[in-house]
Amino acid sequence: MTGEQEVIGISGATGRLGEIIVRKLREHHPDVPVVALVRDLDKGAPLAALGAELRRFDYDAPETLAPALAGIDKLLLISGNAVGERERQHRAVIEAAREAGVRLIAYTSVLRASETALPIAAEHKATETVLKEVGVPHVLLRHGWYCENYLFRIEAAVDSGTLPTCAGDGLISAASREDFAEAAVAVLTAPDDQAGKVYELAGSSSFTFADLAAEAERQSGRPVKCVQLPKPEFEAALVAIGTPAFVAAMIAKSDMGAREGGLFDESRTLEKLIGRPTTSMSDVMASVLR
Ligand SMILES: NC(=O)c1ccc[n+]([C@@H]2O[C@H](COP(=O)([O-])OP(=O)(O)OC[C@H]3O[C@@H](n4cnc5c(N)ncnc54)[C@H](OP(=O)(O)O)[C@@H]3O)[C@@H](O)[C@H]2O)c1
Repeated sequence: MTGEQEVIGISGATGRLGEIIVRKLREHHPDVPVVALVRDLDKGAPLAALGAELRRFDYDAPETLAPALAGIDKLLLISGNAVGERERQHRAVIEAAREAGVRLIAYTSVLRASETALPIAAEHKATETVLKEVGVPHVLLRHGWYCENYLFRIEAAVDSGTLPTCAGDGLISAASREDFAEAAVAVLTAPDDQAGKVYELAGSSSFTFADLAAEAERQSGRPVKCVQLPKPEFEAALVAIGTPAFVAAMIAKSDMGAREGGLFDESRTLEKLIGRPTTSMSDVMASVLR
């Protein structure tokens, strides 16, 4: 049976999202051969223990790319985390996939990449354009924000009693990494052709920063007040508590994006794909507060 199965390759497999995807593929689709494409073979050892084949794959080392993709039918290209370098890196992967004869690329893009004003979207939009230009059949998994993005701010807010933001009443439809991982598995193992599909993936429910503060207060039993600041003051406040300047800038841009509606979605596409409501922010918060 294995010989007839399509081979699935996962890039960024040692990352937090990639590891969950490899684990779910192995648990729920044990007949499907999985290749974990990793920058560091030693770091990939736990994936090999799950039954995935390990191959070295570095977006910055083009000579590793096409050989590692040999025999792979479907590639999940998990976007890199080197902001500013990603269009070049992703182009190298997509061109190598064409050379290696990959039949479908699934790419983890960003919610409403075509029209969103989120500054982080530029590299995703550019990657979507490269996918079209290079001409490998592809499916877009456009991700909203991960609930886990907010955990370190919630923990800090419980300690300090304040949750600063510049997001106003912007609604955020976040979902957990587990939810996004499950969606990727559903798309990669779907019996029907996924080429050309675009999935706008976000949480089943939405929250504001005021909701986050109230829930943190409820779960921790300690007072947590949401404090709205203008963007420059918010960014400066993050730097003042030791946040590196580029991280503070990204957080402030993200919160402004939320303010402008860029993180809100009510399509429930993710819920439909995984067959259940997405994990609530409250449940994800409980993983650190309870
Ligand atoms: N929507 C959201 O809220 C959100 C939040 C965070 C991230 N993201 C995006 O989603 C992606 C996956 O998220 P995550 O939480 O799994 O991120 P992560 O834990 O930082 O994992 C990133 C993965 O990319 C790999 N990688 C980085 N540079 C590479 C290179 N040059 N060649 C090959 N692999 C490389 C890393 O390899 P190593 O293990 O060797 O470092 C790691 O496996 C991120 O990279 C980012 O683009 C989205």
